[in-house]
Amino acid sequence: MSDTEIFERLESNVRSYCRTFPTVFDKAQGSLMYAADGTRYIDFLAGAGALNYGHNEPAIKRKLIDYLDSDSIVHGLDLYTVAKRDFLGAMDRHVLAPNDYVYKMQFCGPTGANAVEAALKIARKATGRTGIFSFMGGYHGMSLGSLSATGNRYHRGGSGIPLQGVSFMPYPHGFMRTFDSIDYIEAVLEDESSGIDKPAAMIFETIQAEGGVIVADNAWIRRLAGLCKRHDILLICDDVQVGCGRTGPFLSFERAGITPDIVVLSKSISGYGLPLAVVLLTPALDLWLPAEHNGTFRGNQLAFVAGTAALEYWKRENVRAEVERKGEFVQKFLDERIQQINPHIKTRGMGLIWGIDLTDAGDPNAVVAKCFERGLVIESAGRKGRVVKLLPALNIPMELLEEGCVILGDAIQKTMIQGATGTASK
Ligand SMILES: Cc1ncc(COP(=O)(O)O)c(C=O)c1O
Repeated sequence: MSDTEIFERLESNVRSYCRTFPTVFDKAQGSLMYAADGTRYIDFLAGAGALNYGHNEPAIKRKLIDYLDSDSIVHGLDLYTVAKRDFLGAMDRHVLAPNDYVYKMQFCGPTGANAVEAALKIARKATGRTGIFSFMGGYHGMSLGSLSATGNRYHRGGSGIPLQGVSFMPYPHGFMRTFDSIDYIEAVLEDESSGIDKPAAMIFETIQAEGGVIVADNAWIRRLAGLCKRHDILLICDDVQVGCGRTGPFLSFERAGITPDIVVLSKSISGYGLPLAVVLLTPALDLWLPAEHNGTFRGNQLAFVAGTAALEYWKRENVRAEVERKGEFVQKFLDERIQQINPHIKTRGMGLIWGIDLTDAGDPNAVVAKCFERGLVIESAGRKGRVVKLLPALNIPMELLEEGCVILGDAIQKTMIQGATGTASK
């Protein structure tokens, strides 16, 4: 039942997660996944952030089943549909209006990368400038435009052509903390001999998720927004991974009190792992001509239905408070259990995204493998994959969160012992 031969024989070498978790998955409910052979796994990966409400959340699933049963439109290009109308209304009611945000919503191809493409295109069109500033460690997708704003050399290497038009600025992390990155960007912009032209936009993540869970603090985010405003540069917040309630508020930049010109959402915006991407545009930037950023799969109708149900769920179940409560639990676990294992381990995070940085303290691959062996699905991220990333569903039951943390703590402890003594410990 867990035979993986056909995948290895027929599926492209490009496959990745399945190499880390080499079993055949079959069923899933909430934060539990089951392999075809019945093995149970706790899910701390949550579809890389696409499953903020877990697998097959019953209230959302009910809406989908009813929708399918009613023979409503499933594929609708960008036609006006009831499903889309409901989703626009729910976004307005639960996300935009409560924050006094005024944005137009663009539905593009359903991936984060496509939404980033749209954001970069409209920023260039609106300003007439071509350059973009992105940040070292940033991850924005794999299509050529979004890849050009992604820092990782391994991924960039796959492009086959030079990736142009983006200058990378230091994110406040590591050695880059020793100087002021905002002052540096300011200097680049002001110095007529800096060699870098004023960009159309800056694209940033409030927490670099794939980059290794690196959290920008509120002051830095506010200064970045102020800098953009002063220099008449558009600010794009890529909230693909840490938006949709992951850090507490629905949009991750709410904590800093800023209003980016453009916001990019995907992954959990459909609430069910269905494909959907949305670009939020300040109305003045909605300069698209009809069909100028086209696509057959814009606004998947099932994703609209699930997305509406997910927004209602988020509000009804007060997921924000739940994220804060569980975030405190994880932080305590990291402070008390993980940091005790080795003082060189660094931990970072917020809400329900946390990173355990093993750069000076262990082998993340061994930790991830040990976790999987013990029934926990968790991945590593960051430079050279040195950071174990906790990304559970926001509605994970406390018992499963605790059980997963115990497995993780034991895996870190055991792989340390293994590293130190050279003997496998079971
Ligand atoms: C911040 C961010 N932006 C963009 C993307 C790309 O999204 P997709 O994989 O759906 O193209 C990701 C994916 O992990 C992401 O984390």
